[in-house]
Amino acid sequence: MTFQLGARTDEPLSPRAPTRVIPVGGGKGGVGKTFLVANLAAALARDGYRVAAVDGDLEGANLHTFLGVPRPRTSLADFVAQREDDLPKLLLETPIDNLQLIAATASNLATPQPSRTRRVRLVRELRRIEADFVFVDLGAGTHPAVMDYFMIGEEGVVVITPEPTSVENAYAFLRAAFYRRLRLAMVSHNVRSIVTLAMDERNERGIRTPMDLLREVQAIDSNEGARFVETMRAFRPRVIVNEVRTADDIKLGFSIASVCRKYFGIDAEYLGYVNHDEAARRSVRARRPIVASHPRSDASIYIARIARKLAAARPPPAPAATPV
Ligand SMILES: Nc1ncnc2c1ncn2[C@@H]1O[C@H](COP(=O)(O)OP(=O)(O)OP(=O)(O)O)[C@@H](O)[C@H]1O
Ligand SMILES: [Mg+2]
Repeated sequence: MTFQLGARTDEPLSPRAPTRVIPVGGGKGGVGKTFLVANLAAALARDGYRVAAVDGDLEGANLHTFLGVPRPRTSLADFVAQREDDLPKLLLETPIDNLQLIAATASNLATPQPSRTRRVRLVRELRRIEADFVFVDLGAGTHPAVMDYFMIGEEGVVVITPEPTSVENAYAFLRAAFYRRLRLAMVSHNVRSIVTLAMDERNERGIRTPMDLLREVQAIDSNEGARFVETMRAFRPRVIVNEVRTADDIKLGFSIASVCRKYFGIDAEYLGYVNHDEAARRSVRARRPIVASHPRSDASIYIARIARKLAAARPPPAPAATPV
């Protein structure tokens, strides 16, 4: 068990609440994943939470630039290449109080993605970071590495912009996450191979949707059927719609949640939306989170609202006790 740092020595040490690891993905490139990781992390850090932002995008690493850390001296690549096994040692300070960074620069171009065993280790290490929130910025696409990180816990966030291409990729992303989760949850070899078969949309058995698959699984093995339903219930991806311009754009989050219910039988949570805001690009050029550089901009206000919603499950930390 780990204990809260800075606790008064004359009081019993209180167990540290578990670190909340929040992976942020979305399938498509350029939808604002890194922008939102940097800004949600900065907004929560401003509210007094201890936050770490981890750049999990080894091929397109740029989170450090969003946070104003010009030349990170260590990188997630050091962990991937096994130069460092202790992940928290790679944490770097940022110009923002309470916010630390694990950057992802200088990866080995020959092996940009970590091996499966290294990924398992990375997931374990992420939970060791002493912070209230650890955000993980995922790369675009549905590479198995990306999907593994997305499945850390139940807090995964999918970022979507109101464009058909982004919506299409977000569904592909959710589908990949859902089937991967399901395959891991199934115990019987037989049922697992049917899940693998169903992952190919054009499978010859005619399984087109998760509901079709559920019927097949229930017919073969009722215990596996019950586990299937349990996995569906536990999978609650959260959705943020970014670069919103119209009232219809805002509604997109609700329609995605309702498609998820109908198609996957899962309850996605619509966390909120962020306006398209010219101040976003200005903040990126200034290498500062928008919540710090333009705190009164529309985008900052909506980001702060989403950050509060994320934090709602945990009360703000009590002010640090003054040593006597
Ligand atoms: N709400 C917004 N309003 C205006 N511009 C935005 C907004 N959100 C993001 N942007 C702009 O979009 C650009 C791309 O965002 P970002 O790099 O975060 O995308 P990404 O999803 O991480 O892409 P990749 O998959 O390539 O890593 C940013 O440089 C930022 O300036
Ligand atoms: Mg990015």
